[in-house]
Amino acid sequence: MCGIVGYVGDEDCANLLVEGLRKLEYRGYDSAGLAVLGEKGLAVVRAKGKLSNLEKRLGEQPPRGATGIGHTRWATHGKPSDENAHPHSYGGVAVVHNGIIENHLQLKESLAKSGHKFSSETDTEIFAHLIHDEVERGLGLPEAVRAALKNVRGTYALAVVSENHPGMLVVSKNASPLVVGIGDKCNFIASDVPAILAHTRDVIYLEEGDFAVITKNSVQLSDLAGQKLERSVRRIDWTPTMAEKNGHKHFMHKEIHEQARALTDTIRGRASIEEGDVFLDGCHLDKKLVERLSKIQIVACGTSWHASLTGKLMIETLARLPVEVDLASEFRYRDPLIDKNTLCIAVSQSGETADTLGSFREARTRGARGLAICNVVGSAIAREADDVLYTHAGPEIGVASTKAFTTQLAAFFLLAVRLGRLRGTISQEQGRAHLQALTEVPLLVERVLKYEEQIKQAAYKFSQSRDLLFLGRGPQYPVALEGALKLKEISYIHAEGYAAGEMKHGPIALIDENMPVMVLAPRDSATEPGVNYEKILGNIHEVRARGGRVIAIHSEGDEQVPRLAEAAIPVPQTNPLLMPMVSVVPTQLFSYHVADHRGTDVDQPRNLAKSVTVE
Ligand code: F6R
Repeated sequence: MCGIVGYVGDEDCANLLVEGLRKLEYRGYDSAGLAVLGEKGLAVVRAKGKLSNLEKRLGEQPPRGATGIGHTRWATHGKPSDENAHPHSYGGVAVVHNGIIENHLQLKESLAKSGHKFSSETDTEIFAHLIHDEVERGLGLPEAVRAALKNVRGTYALAVVSENHPGMLVVSKNASPLVVGIGDKCNFIASDVPAILAHTRDVIYLEEGDFAVITKNSVQLSDLAGQKLERSVRRIDWTPTMAEKNGHKHFMHKEIHEQARALTDTIRGRASIEEGDVFLDGCHLDKKLVERLSKIQIVACGTSWHASLTGKLMIETLARLPVEVDLASEFRYRDPLIDKNTLCIAVSQSGETADTLGSFREARTRGARGLAICNVVGSAIAREADDVLYTHAGPEIGVASTKAFTTQLAAFFLLAVRLGRLRGTISQEQGRAHLQALTEVPLLVERVLKYEEQIKQAAYKFSQSRDLLFLGRGPQYPVALEGALKLKEISYIHAEGYAAGEMKHGPIALIDENMPVMVLAPRDSATEPGVNYEKILGNIHEVRARGGRVIAIHSEGDEQVPRLAEAAIPVPQTNPLLMPMVSVVPTQLFSYHVADHRGTDVDQPRNLAKSVTVE
């Protein structure tokens, strides 16, 4: 949580820092601030709320200086306010921080005893005080930061500037992300690459415990003890415009529309229809290794957890290997049954989610092999994994996850086919058919997008509902969960996803004309309606019999379901395991248009942040 950006060079940097923070607002937007070192010393400007408030405060003439740090906050300790906004400064030292200092109360108490006065409720402020004291004792800034870090217990990405050390940034990282950007006679730091992509594509991903002293001409890396380190510079192929809205009103809308492209990128170079097999760069799964596996354990949160529920169906169906799926926050503390014959898969768009990372580590400590399905290259989860399957969705800026979900499903399908081939549960011929169907999915997603106007009309019609139920069966059940999550997080309408067969065990009591029900009712396949379809038809009748209003997502050409629905949205047909990638798209667009119609902040819904790096 929280976004950090920093610059050291020859140019006045206040505007550059603001632009960087704009790209990081997805990480939190409770307040924003920056500290700039110039001829007049240290200037700190902060404002509660979104970045626009900081911009207003900076006005026409922001402080001048060619060394600076900026921060956008997602509150953990202390309410959103001007005082709690970063940077925190004390005696010419300014600090920005992403993470949580667990022993900050003890440290605060002992600093207070020696006369320190605090101006915020944050855990971060203690850094400014600790570092200042060390500088006063005569240490240089790098040594002072090292000495201060020895006292703290917790997680951090930290950046520090000091009036006594112009032209220098000191940074360190433990469990929160931080990259260093290499420029020409200037250097950068950021929590995430889009913040500096307009200036450089060459970055160093810092690892846990890394420490860096950065000037305009040098980046000196070491560990906390001062031992010199080498880290490779990576070239990022995301262009700055990939991180822009490209004419869409919201990032979420843009990202929904990017899904066909994103899916193609996930599949590209991996699915060989000719060989009926999959080549997973970054995954070292061979026959011997896979034969040893007794089960797969998946850990994930939120939307990634929903993708994992579908992933389980894909792997169990195609590879006939038992799969358990846990919410990462639950898995970690339940003493799970994991051993060296378990493959643990961590699924995470950001690759930084604290619960997912923590449970992944837990599984690996118990001997499991670790495979990560991640979007963000070089993220913590990806770095810790034995095998990585990147989804290649490109940056996802909208807080509500869309293309991350569909590309995770594609990644799972590729993995399931690969495992199936390795275990001999699917033949080459079957592999070919599955992969052929997968490569057609992007086209089907494009086709769904053509129904947007129809979906928008349905969204407007139901946009004033207080509650909404989503129902699905089999592979459509996780889609129902995901549809409900999307609607509630961006429109603030209360929504629940249910397995349609469970309705009669409780939720049916809620059904009346005020509780619209979105039913995911595609046929099971092109050749037969299928058991899920037959059963869900029955569920639709049950809803209607109780006065419920039905919004149906149905297969193109199907005549039965639309007849029973007040609003009906067609989707093209594919095989049942691939159908979620197609049928989820109208639920995303429905939620988007409901929220937009209600005038909510679609890309940055209240109380949420894109990357949840606290437990
Ligand atoms: C919902 C959403 C969240 C994330 C969850 C996990 O739209 O975005 O539920 O899916 O916070 O995030 P990652 O996938 O980054 O681990």
